[in-house]
Amino acid sequence: MSNTVLITGAAGWLGGLLAEALVSDPKTLNVRLILADIVEPKAPKSAKAVTLKADLTAKEPIDALFKTELGIPDTIYCLHGIMSRGSEDNFDLGLKVNVDSIRLMLQAAREFGAKSPIKFIFTSSLAVYGGPLPHTVTPDTIATPEGAYGMGKLTSELLVNEYSRRGFIDGRIIRLPTIVVRPGVPSAATSAFISGVIREPLKGIECLCPIGDSIDSPELDLPSWVASPETTIKNFVAAKHVPAEKFLSHTRVVCLPGFTATVREELQALEKVGGKKALDLVKFKDDPINRRIVSSWPPRFDNSYPLSLGFIVDEGGMEPIVRQFQKDIEAGIA
Ligand SMILES: NC(=O)c1ccc[n+]([C@@H]2O[C@H](COP(=O)([O-])OP(=O)(O)OC[C@H]3O[C@@H](n4cnc5c(N)ncnc54)[C@H](O)[C@@H]3O)[C@@H](O)[C@H]2O)c1
Repeated sequence: MSNTVLITGAAGWLGGLLAEALVSDPKTLNVRLILADIVEPKAPKSAKAVTLKADLTAKEPIDALFKTELGIPDTIYCLHGIMSRGSEDNFDLGLKVNVDSIRLMLQAAREFGAKSPIKFIFTSSLAVYGGPLPHTVTPDTIATPEGAYGMGKLTSELLVNEYSRRGFIDGRIIRLPTIVVRPGVPSAATSAFISGVIREPLKGIECLCPIGDSIDSPELDLPSWVASPETTIKNFVAAKHVPAEKFLSHTRVVCLPGFTATVREELQALEKVGGKKALDLVKFKDDPINRRIVSSWPPRFDNSYPLSLGFIVDEGGMEPIVRQFQKDIEAGIA
C-alpha cells in the first residue's frame, strides 16, 4: 500500500484541514499527498506533497493528477465544488463543477485504477433532502432535493454508487451536516449565520441573526443538524479506513453523525463562553426567506448506521464547540 492520497478542493476549508489530519493519521503511515484546486493549495509543512493549481472541469488537468511524480493515488478525496448559494445562483457553473467534473474524475479514477480500484471518497450534503421528511432521517429516507446544489450532489452520488457497483472504484459517499464554526469572513451561504452568530461576537464584531426579531423570539427554536470541524475531519479520515464489506450492499451513502442544535442553544453556548458582552453583539432582523430555506433542511438524523461503521459524533452539544473556537481565535488560527 503506497498511501498516496489525492485531495481535490485542497485549497478550501475542509481540504486544508484534511491534509493536515492525514499527515498525523497513525493508520496512514508516510502519507504522500497530491493536492489540487483551482486556487494554489498549500501543503502541510512536514508532508511529502505535490500541489497542482488546476481547473478540474476538463479531462487533461484531471488526467495530470494521476501522472505526478507520486504516481497513481490509492485514495481520492473529491472535495472540490461550488457551494450551496453559488450553484443556486449560477446553475450552469454548478452543473459543470458539481456534476460534469465529478463524472470526469470518476472516469479517470476508473481508468488509472484499472488494476486496483481506487478508494473514491465524495463529500455530499444534507441539501440532497427536501420535500416532506420524516421526523428523523434514516438510511431509508429517499432524497428529493429542492435546489441546484442538492441536485448536483445527488446526481454525482448516483454515479459514485454505480461506479462502485461495477467495481470500477471503491466509492464512499459522506453526506455532511452543517459544519460549525466555520472560520474566516462571513459567506453568502444561507446557512452562514449558523457559524456567524458564534464567530463574529467572539471576535468582538457585531453580527446580524436572520432568524427572529429579538432574543426572545420563538423563531430561535429553529433546529439545524450540525457537527464540529474536528469531528468531521476525524470522520473524513475514518471514511478511508471502513472495510468495503461493512457498507450496506445497495449503497455507499453514509450520513455522517451530527446533532441537533437550535439557534437559541447556540446563543446560550455563546453567552456561556463569551459572556453577555458577546451575546449583546448579536442583532436580530428576521429574514423569512432565509428562515424558510433553513427550515426545509432535515434537523434530525438517526446516527446508528454511521456509528456502526466506526464514525464518531460530537459529545456535549454546542458549548465545547464554541469553547474550541474561542481557543482557535486566541491561537490566531480562526
Ligand atoms: N462546509 C460545510 O459545512 C459542508 C457541508 C456539506 C458539504 N460540504 C462539502 O464538503 C466539501 C468541502 O467543503 P468546504 O467547506 O471545504 O468548501 P470550500 O468552498 O472551502 O472549498 C471548495 C474548494 O473547491 C475549489 N474549486 C471550486 N471549483 C473548482 C474547480 N473547477 N477546479 C478545482 N477546484 C475547484 C475551490 O477553489 C475551493 O477551494 C464540498 O464538496 C462541500 O460541498 C461542506
